[in-house]
Amino acid sequence: MEGQGAYNRYAKLQAGGATLGLPHLEKAVRRLPLESGDRPIVIADYGSSQGKNSLAPIRIAIVALRARLGPNRPILVYHEDLPFNDFNALFGVLDQDPDRYVLDEPNVFPCAIGRSFYGSLLPPDYVNRGWSSYAVNWASRIPSLIPGHIFALRATGAVRAAFDRQGAEDWETFLSFRANELRPGGRLIVVLAATDDDGISRVEDIMDHANAVLADMVEEHVISADERARMVLGAWPRRRHDLLVPFAHDKQFQDLRVEYCETSALPDTAWADYQQNGSKDALASKHALFFRSTFAPSLALALNRSRDAEEQRAFSDRLEHGLPSRIVGQPAPMNSFLATIVLAKLGIV
Ligand SMILES: C[S@@+](CC[C@H](N)C(=O)[O-])C[C@H]1O[C@@H](n2cnc3c(N)ncnc32)[C@H](O)[C@@H]1O
Repeated sequence: MEGQGAYNRYAKLQAGGATLGLPHLEKAVRRLPLESGDRPIVIADYGSSQGKNSLAPIRIAIVALRARLGPNRPILVYHEDLPFNDFNALFGVLDQDPDRYVLDEPNVFPCAIGRSFYGSLLPPDYVNRGWSSYAVNWASRIPSLIPGHIFALRATGAVRAAFDRQGAEDWETFLSFRANELRPGGRLIVVLAATDDDGISRVEDIMDHANAVLADMVEEHVISADERARMVLGAWPRRRHDLLVPFAHDKQFQDLRVEYCETSALPDTAWADYQQNGSKDALASKHALFFRSTFAPSLALALNRSRDAEEQRAFSDRLEHGLPSRIVGQPAPMNSFLATIVLAKLGIV
C-alpha cells in the first residue's frame, strides 16, 4: 500500500466494503464465551495496513466487549502486517486519530506485529476474535508473470492455472495458522475482494486502463519493456466457491468450520457522487487515487533496483495521472464484489 498515510486517505472502497463485515464481528463478540479470571481478551487484525480502516471494526468489538465485561478487563489488540508496511502511519493513527479506539479506554492495549500472515503470529489457542479486511487477497508469492497484463483475472491457460493454484494454497495456509492461534470457540471474520460465481470482479476495467497506461509509459520510455514485463499484481479476487473448497470434505478444515459465507456487490460511492454532481473528472480522480494508493507500490517493486525513491514516486504520479483521461472516456461504476466469511474454531474453553 502507498506509504506516508496515502492508503489511509484514499482506501474508501475498502472502508465501505468492510462495513458489511461489521455486524458479523459485533455478533461474534456478543457471543464470546465468558471466561472467569482476568486473562486479557485478544483481538487480532490481520493485514491492518496503516490502520485507519481498522478503527471502526476494533471500536465495535470493544464496545460490544465492554457491554459484557465491564470497563476493567484488559483487551489486547494486535495489528499485523508485512514488515515493510508503513507502521509509522499505523502508530500515528492509533495514537492521534480523532476516532482512535483507545479514547476513554485505559484498559485497551494496541500492539503491532510485522510478519506475514502466511506464518505463525501468535501462541496457540490465544486469539478470541480475529478480523481481516481486504488483505487475504494478497498472495504469498507471485506464481508467474502475465504476458501482456498485470491482473491475474486477465491471465489465461497455464498462467491462470498457476494463480488459481497459488490462491488455493495460500488460503489453506492462512486458515491453518489461524486455526492454531484462535482460542477454542474463537471467531475469525474475513472480508475480501471477490468475484461473482462466473469469475467477474468488476475491477477489470480499471485494471485494463492501468495496463494501457503502463504500455504508454513504455512507449514514452518512462519505464523499460523489461520493467513493464515484471509488473504483476499479487492480489486478485476469488469466487465464494474457492473460499469454501477447504471445507468441502467433512464441513470443517482443521478445527475451523464456516458459520457464514456470502458474496455481495458493493455500491461505488464515487459513482454515486458522480450521479449527483455529474463531474466525470472527480469520478476519474477518485478511481485513479484508489488504484494508486492500493496497487502502484506493488507495481513499483518491478522497477530497476537502481531507481531511487523519487523515481518511484514519479512512476506512481505518471500512472495516476494517465488514468483519468481513460476513465473519463468510458465512465463506469466500479461495483466490485466482496466476500464475507465467518469462521468458528471448534471446542470450548
Ligand atoms: C488493501 S490493504 C487492506 C488494509 C485494511 N485492512 C483495509 O481494510 O483497508 C491490504 C494489506 O494486507 C497486507 N498484506 C498483504 N500480504 C500480507 C501478508 N502476507 N501478511 C500480512 N499482511 C499482508 C498489505 O501489506 C496491506 O497492508
